[in-house]
Amino acid sequence: MKVDFINSSYRRYYQEHKAQIVKALDKCFAKGDFILREEVARFEKNLADFCEVKYSAGVNSGTDALKIAYKALGCKPGDEVITVGHTFIASIEEIVHLGAKPILIDVGEDGLMNVDQIEAAITGKTVGIVPVHLSGKVCDMPRIMAIAKKHHLWVVEDACQALGARLGGKMAGSFGDAACFSFISPKTLGCAGDAGGIVTDSKAVYEKILLLRNHYNITQNALLGHQPKAPKIMGWGYNSRLDNIQAALLNIKIKYYPKMLKRRREIAEKYSKGLGDLPVSLPTCQPEQIYQEYIIKPGNIWKFKKHMQDRGVELLIRDTIPNHKMPGLGLDHFNLPMTEKIAKELVRLPIYPELTDAEIDYTIKCVREYFLPKAKKK
Ligand SMILES: Cc1ncc(COP(=O)(O)O)c(C=O)c1O
Repeated sequence: MKVDFINSSYRRYYQEHKAQIVKALDKCFAKGDFILREEVARFEKNLADFCEVKYSAGVNSGTDALKIAYKALGCKPGDEVITVGHTFIASIEEIVHLGAKPILIDVGEDGLMNVDQIEAAITGKTVGIVPVHLSGKVCDMPRIMAIAKKHHLWVVEDACQALGARLGGKMAGSFGDAACFSFISPKTLGCAGDAGGIVTDSKAVYEKILLLRNHYNITQNALLGHQPKAPKIMGWGYNSRLDNIQAALLNIKIKYYPKMLKRRREIAEKYSKGLGDLPVSLPTCQPEQIYQEYIIKPGNIWKFKKHMQDRGVELLIRDTIPNHKMPGLGLDHFNLPMTEKIAKELVRLPIYPELTDAEIDYTIKCVREYFLPKAKKK
């Protein structure tokens, strides 16, 4: 049997929803609706409602969502922003692109921001904190927000991997001053390419985001029924609009999203049950997390990958060199022992709603074979 890491997800989803997808595309083309049109407005409403916040703006990637959120909150050259080294590079990269300085702190064994390190990293130049809700788990937001309030810092949640996760019943993305999401294809809510979104409860931040994503031009936003006042003072903006076609695809998928998250949870539970007695470290779990990824620590990651590959199961290993140790980025002065340790240990098993039970069972069987005869057969 062959189990691929993600591609079957795209193909199977398309086969199942082809009629709706084709109809939605046809509607966009027939009406000539491509830039900041009805589907974008509809998706923004869907996203804000889903995240239980007041406002949402579509942009063209999770990376741009971060840049625009940082900028809307006032991030400028010379500022310092605290985030983690253990993240997708974009959380750090966009701080640098604004001329600010990323201050990297470590994570705990769960891969999330080590909140105990935040206050020691604050200086007179610190303006914000960027917690990253990695692998569908939510950082300790009540403590992070309390620290931010005490030191008058803004908080942007990098929730690109956590749409629909909660902590203490509260949605990821609804804690900070703004939160960013990615809808790139492999994400839990993925489109056909790149897309992103920003959510916030602040009208002022929202209106700034609308200007920034579209060259400081409000004309097209007006087509959607949002009519922010024309700015008296202009600023430099970007071209970072969510495409109407991508929004149309996301409006279809978001209807199935709760069901898709449920299936991902089911798969994660099957993995945990099927692998629980093996000498392999399974992911730490939060009760209300979502499963963007299912990450295990099998020991020798390359040997394990080869074993699975020989049996037709595709795994993902990435970023074995942590971001701050990448040559050329000027970040190697940061000392992040946990980040450095876990970077070499992580392997991702396939997890997407379209996986069949037979494929999940086969994947479990192959993992078990790797650890046998050390572990007893189930
Ligand atoms: C944690 C995190 N931040 C930011 C991004 C950037 O999103 P995008 O790829 O849509 O630019 C991603 C995903 O790729 C991510 O996983």
